[in-house]
Amino acid sequence: MTALLHLDEVSVAIGTIALLERISLTLGQGEILGLVGESGSGKSLTAMAAMGLLPLIGGRITAGSVGFDGQDMGAMTDAQRRALRGRRIGFVTQNPMTALDPVQRIGAQVDVVSRLHLGLSRTAARARTLDLLTQLRIPEAAAVAEAWPHQLSGGMKQRIVIAMALAGDPDLIIADEPTTALDVTVQAQIIQILGALVRDRGLALLLITHDMGVVAQVCDRVAVLYAGRLAEEGPVGPIFAAPAHPYTRALIGCIPQDGMARGSLRGIPGAVPSALAFPSGCRFHTRCAHATDICRTAVPALLPRDQGLVACHHAGQTTGDAA
Ligand SMILES: Nc1ncnc2c1ncn2[C@@H]1O[C@H](COP(=O)(O)OP(=O)(O)O)[C@@H](O)[C@H]1O
Ligand SMILES: [Mg+2]
Repeated sequence: MTALLHLDEVSVAIGTIALLERISLTLGQGEILGLVGESGSGKSLTAMAAMGLLPLIGGRITAGSVGFDGQDMGAMTDAQRRALRGRRIGFVTQNPMTALDPVQRIGAQVDVVSRLHLGLSRTAARARTLDLLTQLRIPEAAAVAEAWPHQLSGGMKQRIVIAMALAGDPDLIIADEPTTALDVTVQAQIIQILGALVRDRGLALLLITHDMGVVAQVCDRVAVLYAGRLAEEGPVGPIFAAPAHPYTRALIGCIPQDGMARGSLRGIPGAVPSALAFPSGCRFHTRCAHATDICRTAVPALLPRDQGLVACHHAGQTTGDAA
C-alpha cells in the first residue's frame, strides 16, 4: 500500500535554529494519526512541513523528504503544491477566527472552496455547502449559510472551518489543535463529529493535539513529539496499554479521569526546553525520573518496539510514575 502522506526523516530549521530533527510519519488511506506533545514540541511545524507551507514562516526542510500519494512534494512546483492544498489536503486551524473572513457570509466562504477546487457552479456549490453543514450537525444550515462569522459561537465557527476543509473533497485532513480554542464541553463533540465524518468517507486525518484523551477518543495510531524529536510512535491500543517512553506515560497521566474537575487538569512538571538550548542526549532527561548517565550523553535511537517505535535508553524497563 502506498502511504498517502509520508514524512521521511524530515528536519526543519528557521534561520539557523534547528527545530525538528528527523521526523518520520506515515499516514495510510483512511487512517487517523494523532500527533501529540506539549506546546512547543514542534507539532505545528510538522504540519507546515507536511503541507509545504514552511516558507510562509521563513522555515525550510533541511533534510529528509515529504511524499504525498507517492509524489515528492519537494520536487513539485509552487503551483502544484498549491493545487494539492484545498483539493487533496484540507486544513483545519486552531483558531477559527483567523480561518474565516469576518466580512463574508458563511455560505459564500464554504462555496468558494468547491467552486475553486471542484469547478462546481454557484448552485451546485451551495447545495454541497448545505449538505456539508448538515453532516456537521449544524441546525438550520440554510440560515447559517446566510449568517456572518461573528453571529456564530466558537464551536459553530469551527464546524464551518471543518466544512471548508471537506468542501474540496480531499483525501487527507490536517487538523491542528482544532478544539483547543473551544469550551471543553464543545471539544469532545467536535472531535466526535470530525472523527465520524472522516471514518464515513474513508479519509485520512492527521490530528494534532496536546491532549491524549483526544487521541484515545478517535485515533488509530499516535506519534509523540518532544522537543522536535519523535519519542514514540505506534498503534493507540498497545501504546495506551503499555507506553514505553516515560514522556508518553506522562502525557497519558495528564488525561482527566472521570469525576475529576476539569480545573484540576494535571500538567507535567517543568517545561519543554527552548530550541536555543536543547539538552544533550535524550532531550527529555531534564524532566525524567528515570534518567541515568547515558540519557544525559547519548541521543537514544528510534528503535522498533511491538508494532511501533520508541526512542528511550530504558524503553520498557521503566514503569509507574514517569516524571
Ligand atoms: N516562526 C517561528 N520562528 C522561530 N521559532 C519558531 C517559529 N515557529 C515555531 N518556532 C519554535 O519551534 C518550536 C516548535 O513550535 P511549534 O511547532 O509551533 O510547536 P507546537 O505546535 O507543538 O506547540 C517552538 O520552540 C517554537 O518556539
Ligand atoms: Mg501548535
